[in-house]
Amino acid sequence: MNKQFAHDVLEGLNSMPKKLSSQYFYDEKGDKLFQKIMNLDEYYLTRSEYEIIDSNKERMLKLFSGSEGPFNLIEFGAGDGYKTKVLLNHFLDKKAKFNYVPIDISRHVLDELSDSLKEELPNLSVKPMEGEYFEVLKKLKKSEARNVVLFLGSNIGNFSHDQASVFLEGLYKCLKKNDLVMIGFDLKKDPDAILSAYNDKEGVTRDFNLNLLHRINEELGGNFQVGNFRHCPTYDPLTGTTSSYLVSTTHQRVEIMDQAVEFDQWEAIHMEVSQKYDLNDIERLAYEAGFTIQSNFYDSKKYFVNSVWKK
Ligand code: AVI
Repeated sequence: MNKQFAHDVLEGLNSMPKKLSSQYFYDEKGDKLFQKIMNLDEYYLTRSEYEIIDSNKERMLKLFSGSEGPFNLIEFGAGDGYKTKVLLNHFLDKKAKFNYVPIDISRHVLDELSDSLKEELPNLSVKPMEGEYFEVLKKLKKSEARNVVLFLGSNIGNFSHDQASVFLEGLYKCLKKNDLVMIGFDLKKDPDAILSAYNDKEGVTRDFNLNLLHRINEELGGNFQVGNFRHCPTYDPLTGTTSSYLVSTTHQRVEIMDQAVEFDQWEAIHMEVSQKYDLNDIERLAYEAGFTIQSNFYDSKKYFVNSVWKK
């Protein structure tokens, strides 16, 4: 049994209000559901960022390579590399001098990505590194080449404001002067467009949230009646916070590892934050962590921005 998972689940369900961490969405089934989400009509994020990368790959190469020197293109949580491959392809075409360094805590994810890259881009120099992002990054600080860190896909949006600040300050400390980061931020926009992205017609996002209850049942011997919970996303246009909840439709009692958890009717479990930003928020985050903004790349609808910051 994953002890950390068990601890976090029990702690979260005994908190007021109840909460579960979205980092646990991604078991094998969760990974597949997330892949499906990224292909949904309503989930604009992946398409917007793809458009940005595809239409700005030349400018990105100029920024990253600076005075033509070699660089390490480091990616946090690369997944299947769908968007990054557009950059990698272009950089290889232009004979840029760089290594691609995907970092992940999962060996399995890294092996799959490396295999697909070997087949699709045999000339690419790939140096996958397994471990916690900052631990690996500290090792790369010694490299003479410039480090360029990619943190794409609005992954930063799954942090609370405080967590994002702590993360960015930590990132800053692990970099050398002149190193770069490129972060994908989802922007504040028509609240209907945002809400639909987290409440798709097919119910894939609902299943993605409910899957964590199934996972607790399977891995921690829980007895959640998953049908007794309703997926309920909200968006606050003032703060830019999208929150997903699972709401108990009935008064019920759930047992997990011999511990009983009571739910009142309509009591909610907070499942996920997906923060949306405006340019002021982004400037503040960069400035407070010590970075200067080099460039902001937008898609045609101004739904998403890839912001490049320098140490
Ligand atoms: C991974 N992350 C940026 C996604 C998001 O948009 O917050 C996860 C997700 N949750 C529901 N749909 C997608």
